[in-house]
Amino acid sequence: MGVGIQVEKLNAWYGKGQALFDINLNVAANHATALIGPSGCGKSTFIRCLNRMHETIPEARVEGRVRIGELDAYNGTSPTQLRRRVGMVF
Ligand SMILES: Nc1ncnc2c1ncn2[C@@H]1O[C@H](COP(=O)(O)OP(=O)(O)O)[C@@H](O)[C@H]1O
Ligand SMILES: [Mg+2]
Repeated sequence: MGVGIQVEKLNAWYGKGQALFDINLNVAANHATALIGPSGCGKSTFIRCLNRMHETIPEARVEGRVRIGELDAYNGTSPTQLRRRVGMVF
């Protein structure tokens, strides 16, 4: 069971408002994984950080590390390369 997604110290903001706080999470490859939580807890924000859709929102920003398989999402990987792998999320 390989690790498909590795997230380390992920923080995300909308302007001055912080939505994600130091998220650390490993998601196994080739398994169905559900992200469950109350409305507004940050599920969509988190998923948009996986393929760099969050940063398309004006004044939004991300810090931390996301690896998708062998790709380092925020270091040396273009959003286009990343989205070929991750696809679109809404
Ligand atoms: N476009 C946005 N601008 C400002 N704040 C946002 C925006 N989208 C979401 N938020 C805020 O970020 C937090 C997480 O929201 P979200 O990721 O949509 O939660 P969920 O998907 O779990 O319902 C909430 O406080 C929400 O109000
Ligand atoms: Mg949502």
